[in-house]
Amino acid sequence: MNQTEIDTIVEVHRLAFGKEEGDDIARLARGFLDLPDTISISSERDGKIVGNVLFTPFKFVDHPDAKCYLLAPCGVLPAYQGHGVGKEIMEASIEHLSSVGADAVFVLGVPTFYPRYGFVSTYR
Ligand SMILES: CC(C)(COP(=O)(O)OP(=O)(O)OC[C@H]1O[C@@H](n2cnc3c(N)ncnc32)[C@H](O)[C@@H]1OP(=O)(O)O)[C@@H](O)C(=O)NCCC(=O)NCCS
Repeated sequence: MNQTEIDTIVEVHRLAFGKEEGDDIARLARGFLDLPDTISISSERDGKIVGNVLFTPFKFVDHPDAKCYLLAPCGVLPAYQGHGVGKEIMEASIEHLSSVGADAVFVLGVPTFYPRYGFVSTYR
């Protein structure tokens, strides 16, 4: 991925998460994009990236063979929210993660959004 694409994705997350969280999430996204094995899935509208989600691999010490990923962040430009972009990137992601043999994906985020795509809560 080239630097322009990285900057575009970081900006998508900055704007998606708004004034309060945007800068922190943008920093997080840039950090994950710097890692060599992070998977980046984007959706385009009108010839530009408007939504993105990142999956960064990690290992549990007790389960070194399990192929685990952290989902963070997932964001869609405000002007494009509510029009199916989030659904599109999540569905494309699940297909891609299945194809690379992912065993588990963890996310810390909106508890009403992710269950639509198979995530289950780990707290009660
Ligand atoms: C959350 C987000 C990624 C969803 O993307 P989107 O393009 O707006 O979502 P879609 O239009 O594809 O909607 C997909 C489904 O999720 C629902 N949904 C959208 N945003 C939601 C939210 N914040 N909470 C719960 N459900 C949500 C929609 O109603 C839709 O449901 P349906 O398929 O039953 O109609 C996007 O709104 C966003 O970037 N929000 C700000 C950043 C954020 O909160 N990111 C996730 C937190 S970790």
